[in-house]
Amino acid sequence: MKEQLEAIRKAALEAVAGPQATADLEALRVKYLGKKGELTALLKQMGGLSAELRPVMGQLANEVRAELEAAIENQAGLLERKAMEARLENEALDVTIPGKKVRMGHKHPMYSVLDEIKDIFIALGFEILDGPEVELADYNFTKLNTPADHPAREWSDTFYLTEDSNVLLRTQTSNMQIRAMESRELPIRVLSPGRVYRKDEVDATHSPMFHQIEGIVVDKGVTMGDLKGTLNAVIRRIYGENTVTRFRPHHFPFTEPSCEMDIQCHKCGGVGCPTCKGEGWIEVLGAGMVHPKVLQNCGIDPEVYSGFAFGMGLERLALGQYKISDMRLIFENDVRFLEQF
Ligand code: PHE
Repeated sequence: MKEQLEAIRKAALEAVAGPQATADLEALRVKYLGKKGELTALLKQMGGLSAELRPVMGQLANEVRAELEAAIENQAGLLERKAMEARLENEALDVTIPGKKVRMGHKHPMYSVLDEIKDIFIALGFEILDGPEVELADYNFTKLNTPADHPAREWSDTFYLTEDSNVLLRTQTSNMQIRAMESRELPIRVLSPGRVYRKDEVDATHSPMFHQIEGIVVDKGVTMGDLKGTLNAVIRRIYGENTVTRFRPHHFPFTEPSCEMDIQCHKCGGVGCPTCKGEGWIEVLGAGMVHPKVLQNCGIDPEVYSGFAFGMGLERLALGQYKISDMRLIFENDVRFLEQF
C-alpha cells in the first residue's frame, strides 16, 4: 500500500503542476481526491490492514492528501493571477492616444433671431409669456371675437383634437392675448412666441407647423400711435435704422381697426424684384387695436382701457435676416446647413 500511495503522490503532484485552465485542475482534484478518486479508493482498503500498519498508512495517506490539496490550491492561485494579468493587459488604456474632438452644437438660426427680438421687447418693458399649443377653441377663436360659424374655424384649415371642435392645435399665438389679459394685472405688456399649426402642405414658404410672436399692450389711453411707434422702433432695430415701413388697412376679427405692416424691399429699394415678388414691399406682421368685444370677453372695460396687439411670423423673419430662400431648411435640421450660422 505504501508503494501505491507514493505512486499516487508522485503522479498527482506532477499532473497538478501542469494544467493551464481552472477546469482541468478541477478535473484532477476529482480524479485524486473526489468521492470516487484514486486516493479515496485506496483509503477504503485500509480496513484490511493489520492493527500496526493501519495508523502508519493512515498518517501517510493524510500527508499525501494534504500535500495534494496544497499543490492544487497553489496551482489555482497561479492560474487566477495569470487570468488577472491577461485581463489587465486586454483592458489597458493608452492614455497617449489623442482624444476625439467633441463637436459643440450652437443656437439654431431661427432661435438666434427670436432671442434678438425678445431682447428688443424686454428692453421696452415687455414680459415674455409662454402658453399652450393644445388649446381650447374658446381661446383660439371664440373669445377672440371669432364665432363658431366663422370661416377661419373650418375643419379644412385647423387640426382639431376632438369631434366637437372644442380642442385644437392653436392656429395662431393670439390665444395668448386672452390668456395674458385673464392672468395679468393691468396694465400689461406681453410678448408670447410659440408654435402654431395649420393644415398647410409643405413647400418653400409653408409648413403645417410654424412659429409666431404675439404681442399685446393694454393700458389706459393706448392709441394707434403707440402701435405704430412701437412697431416702427422694433422693426428698425431688426432690419436697420433706415428701413422704410408702411401700414395697410386689413381685417382681423379681434382687432379694430386692423392693419398689416410692410417693409420696403431691402433688395430693390421698392422698385420690385424676385425677393418681394415684384411688390416692392414685404409684409412683416398683422396688428391692430384690441377689439372692444375682446377686452370685454376678458372682463376689461373698453371705456377705460384700450390696447394694441400684433402677430408676426418668426420663420419669415429668420429667412429674411439670413437670406435663406426655403423655409424647409429651417426645419430639416441638416447640420451642414445649420453650421453656416
Ligand atoms: N393672429 C393673426 C394671424 O395669425 C395676426 C395678428 C395678431 C393680427 C395680433 C392682429 C393682432 O394672422
